Amino acid sequence: MKNQKKISVIGTGYVGLVTAVCFAKAGHEVLCFDVDKKKIAKLSRGECTIFEPSLEDLLKEAIKKKKIKFTSDKIKSANHGLFQFLCVGTPQSSDGSPNLKFIREAIKGIAANAKSRKIIINKSTVPVGMTDIVREIVRNQKNSKYSNLEFDVVSNPEFLREGSAVNDFLFPDRVVIGTSSKNVVKEMSELYIQAGIPKKKIIFMSEKSAELTKYAANAFLATKISFINEMANLSEALGADIKEVSSGIGSDSRIGNSFLNAGCGYGGSCFPKDIDALITIAKQQAKKELRILEEVKSINNNQKKLLFKKLSKSYKGKLKGLKIAVWGLAFKPNTDDVRESPSIDLIKKLLSAGAKVFVHDPEAMDQFKKIIKSPNLKYCKKISTTTRSADALLLVTDWEEYLSYDFSKDNMKMNNMKIFDGRLCLNKKDLVEMGYEYISIGI
Ligand code: UDX
Repeated sequence: MKNQKKISVIGTGYVGLVTAVCFAKAGHEVLCFDVDKKKIAKLSRGECTIFEPSLEDLLKEAIKKKKIKFTSDKIKSANHGLFQFLCVGTPQSSDGSPNLKFIREAIKGIAANAKSRKIIINKSTVPVGMTDIVREIVRNQKNSKYSNLEFDVVSNPEFLREGSAVNDFLFPDRVVIGTSSKNVVKEMSELYIQAGIPKKKIIFMSEKSAELTKYAANAFLATKISFINEMANLSEALGADIKEVSSGIGSDSRIGNSFLNAGCGYGGSCFPKDIDALITIAKQQAKKELRILEEVKSINNNQKKLLFKKLSKSYKGKLKGLKIAVWGLAFKPNTDDVRESPSIDLIKKLLSAGAKVFVHDPEAMDQFKKIIKSPNLKYCKKISTTTRSADALLLVTDWEEYLSYDFSKDNMKMNNMKIFDGRLCLNKKDLVEMGYEYISIGI
């Protein structure tokens, strides 16, 4: 292929693996580096280390076509690609800011070993101004043998959603690239255009603007969710229906329908962490209070408590010994990720109130077992086991198989026919006709 490029991807977590596999699919020659040798061995065999629809098939295909390789060798990784993608984790520090330990290591690995010019592209979520820090680390770390090493630093944030990451990469709304170099504009354009991304979707801007765009996008989406949740609580108090209100406002093209589903709160590895990080960045770097985001956080924390509060009210605070079914542990459908999932707080509260909790999730039970273990918490392979003789069903994640479930009395076999719908995704009318007490949020 004429325009194929050599790419090194440092870090084979969520962002790194999706980026690597999608670039390999486009015909580029990709080498993935990770310090975790077990992970590298697994990936080399074509076994995907994360749950993401279609990723494993694409990985196998890329291996077969010899477009992707894996290594734990820093020197090989630093010298394979002109394009060096930094995709390592930036976990949350105790003050809310991103911890840059792994990214510093990754940059040092490139700087100390590269023998020719590199474009260092940051995809990890980092503080605004990180490109300057990257430059400084490279300058301090350069191997004396190659001290004339030329390098450019680029910010190229990711906007991938778990569960649809491959699609989001291949058909993005936009690709944001922050750079101050004209050469890099050309080189990065070629890289993405070769991967099938239309030129008009690529937005170039300053490095700092690109870094802030990442945080601002997630903060805006989370704000939209907390806004609709606040309206949901008001709707409920006033006797309105938040689903009707959502469709009423979402059909205004200036507002848009997406991210207007009210419910038991957002979770995941990005929104909570990025909002904390942006609040801290604003405080530390600009001495500014982001009051709107403090509210977004606080509304979301309250929202996560609602299902428990409603259940508790319905049983006058006496939950001891009751059997409660919980459907959905993942923070959203089509992922096995349970980080910051509303199910965590809910189940902890149910257990401390003395309830026996029977849970089901199509993908996330293994992950959840790492977080909560209790003799009163039963993980059920079959959905029907959770509701048999149950005193209530709480739906936390709107997996497709729950929406199409057979709710007939004979199939559910509940002791008390109470359904708490945390995602407003079940058909209230049908359930009420079948004899259920249907309780939700915002209606
Ligand atoms: C998010 C961003 O969407 C993505 O662009 C970024 O790069 C990473 O963070 P992700 O965390 O995978 O992606 O999940 P997303 O689909 O955005 O959902 C986040 C949470 O919001 C989920 O818990 C979901 O249930 C909740 N949500 C979403 C709502 O409560 N209501 C909605 O209307 C939409």
